[in-house]
Amino acid sequence: MPAIPASLLRCPVCTGALSQQDRALVCDRGHRFDAARQGYVNLLTGRGSSFEGDDARMVDAREEFLASGHYAPLRDAVVSAVQRHRPDASVVLDAGAGTGYYLRGVVDAAPDTFPVAIDVSKPALRRAARRIPEGIGLVWDIWRPLPLTTGSVDVLLNVFAPRNTDEFLRVLSPDGCVVVVTPRPGHLAELASIGPLLSVPAQKADDVAASFSATLIEAERRELDHVMHLPEHLARSALVMGPAARHSAVAGGRHPGGTDDDPPELEVSARFTIQVLTTAGDTKADNPGDGTEV
Ligand SMILES: C[S@@+](CC[C@H](N)C(=O)[O-])C[C@H]1O[C@@H](n2cnc3c(N)ncnc32)[C@H](O)[C@@H]1O
Ligand SMILES: [Zn+2]
Repeated sequence: MPAIPASLLRCPVCTGALSQQDRALVCDRGHRFDAARQGYVNLLTGRGSSFEGDDARMVDAREEFLASGHYAPLRDAVVSAVQRHRPDASVVLDAGAGTGYYLRGVVDAAPDTFPVAIDVSKPALRRAARRIPEGIGLVWDIWRPLPLTTGSVDVLLNVFAPRNTDEFLRVLSPDGCVVVVTPRPGHLAELASIGPLLSVPAQKADDVAASFSATLIEAERRELDHVMHLPEHLARSALVMGPAARHSAVAGGRHPGGTDDDPPELEVSARFTIQVLTTAGDTKADNPGDGTEV
């Protein structure tokens, strides 16, 4: 386990300070959480959580898809958003980090940052722990009070994951920023020809801005769209890694139009919104650089 910054973590049971003892996190009242062999720490003891995280099949699909590089433009956009606003961040929290793909990018660009990955899925955190050995992965449910001290997080990433706005605002440092990625209508829409998809509400980004608006301003909103040419196996991975696949089997076989001589490829739209929410004092808020600002 790497050295965790002092005063960063708090006990999920009693909210006292959590400190490191070898490969465990302990508080003064004796609550103790041992690191798993794979490096992450499960803080969800007892009843666990009623929220299902991504299962192993979804996580494998996500890893395969991300490894193809089709979301690299999104990762680059997230990294540059962080670099524009908080290049000096001491602590970056990825809430709903999955396998740590975006957090890895942020840390590569800012090696002095301490990364924290939170996710309720153990299969996802196993991958994240391997990918980001210099940080800490915590199995935790975003809907509960976060196991982080108040004002301790400089950058909070939230990529296609649930948002607990009150808790995000509590852990955010006074000049911190929140970077949120959401899909827009039409995202992956062409995959409907091979399996079930959830529809994306049109006003998602507005809802995000509104949910933080009592405390943070929307410093940037960028839309990133591109068309991906996906071979069949990646089209299926893109479906399986999404929430609609949780309770359904994605159909096997070829999608319409594929022939044996002509390996089928689907043209699939990627449509994202990337928002940066900051305190009013963030001077970059008026100078978002290049890109599509709305
Ligand atoms: C669509 S995936 C996105 C993962 C990652 N941000 C990415 O884009 O690669 C959503 C993630 O949120 C996690 N998740 C869902 N509900 C959660 C909760 N209540 N608490 C913590 N994590 C949760 C899932 O396990 C999953 O890893
Ligand atoms: Zn405790």
